[in-house]
Amino acid sequence: MESAEELALLSTLAQTSTRPVRVALRVNPDVTVNTHRHITTGTRGNKFGMPPEQALQLFRDYADHACLNLCGLAMHIGSQICEAAPYRQAVSRLLALTKTLKAEGVHIRCLDLGGGFGIDYGNGSSLSFSEVAQVIADTIHTEAPDYDGKVVVEPGRSLVADAGVLVTRVNFVKEAEPRPFLILDAAMNDLMRPALYQAVHPLLTVSYADNRVQRQFDVVGPVCESTDTFARDYPVSEDIQAGDLMAFLCAGAYCSVMSNSYNSREIPPKYWSMRTLFRSSDGGSARKSSWHLKIKINSWHCRPEDSFRLCFYRFRDLRNQFNLLTAFLHRL
Ligand SMILES: Cc1ncc(COP(=O)(O)O)c(C=O)c1O
Repeated sequence: MESAEELALLSTLAQTSTRPVRVALRVNPDVTVNTHRHITTGTRGNKFGMPPEQALQLFRDYADHACLNLCGLAMHIGSQICEAAPYRQAVSRLLALTKTLKAEGVHIRCLDLGGGFGIDYGNGSSLSFSEVAQVIADTIHTEAPDYDGKVVVEPGRSLVADAGVLVTRVNFVKEAEPRPFLILDAAMNDLMRPALYQAVHPLLTVSYADNRVQRQFDVVGPVCESTDTFARDYPVSEDIQAGDLMAFLCAGAYCSVMSNSYNSREIPPKYWSMRTLFRSSDGGSARKSSWHLKIKINSWHCRPEDSFRLCFYRFRDLRNQFNLLTAFLHRL
């Protein structure tokens, strides 16, 4: 529950339940995270969660409630976080509350630490799962060695972002000062992250190898908004021309799910391959070029005669759990 008001509503709804409803309160641990301010959620002033003192008071107020069993604490401090330090600080604050509650006779059975683990959007920064797991484990072992409840996380982007690409075509190469514009047929309605929080996605040309001589472009969409800008001063093959296909990488998270039909634009179709996630058999890491898949894409971004090879590369191993893949499109 995010607030006292939500909890009060739940207590009314829970009256129809045959057994007590288990509840976790979301705490705002008030930590500073080095990410875009629009995706910061665990700092004082953000709308999410409640201060630890308020959570403590609610645990007291609802201690003997007939229909609700308050037994968990939750947090989610933001998204695209590339440092482990804020997790240490936030977990520490949750554990301090857990210990206070324990002293008052309340047994916390679950700590939900949220997600936010940053991925590499092409600038080399990311947060490794092993690093953040280590920080969480160390903090718990040091500060609350007798905590015996569950610890859960809610990774989102870090599981799926690398498994999707957005294919787009160049509408125009517009000569301008201080830089030429590359005007794509994809726009802010297809990929909102750049307009929402100045995110930059790696952008590849499909038609050419990326080792050609490059030129700096401002890469934009065709919608009548100046925020319809994907990247400024971005290097692209200098011989790129209208009609060429390009692909935004890392578009498997917060891309198609955020797409919309603003400006009467059609939402582009999606193509799925169930084989994009598979179990690791070798335990190795950063093995490249697992397999290739030929696909035909029929969408308004592509002409019917276009055919691609979509190459997936394994890039990370999670101790025999799911391997994450990254996809590259090559025009055939
Ligand atoms: C409560 C909560 N948990 C987890 C996530 C996943 O975050 P991410 O995709 O950054 O890992 C979100 C994203 O908005 C969230 O609101």
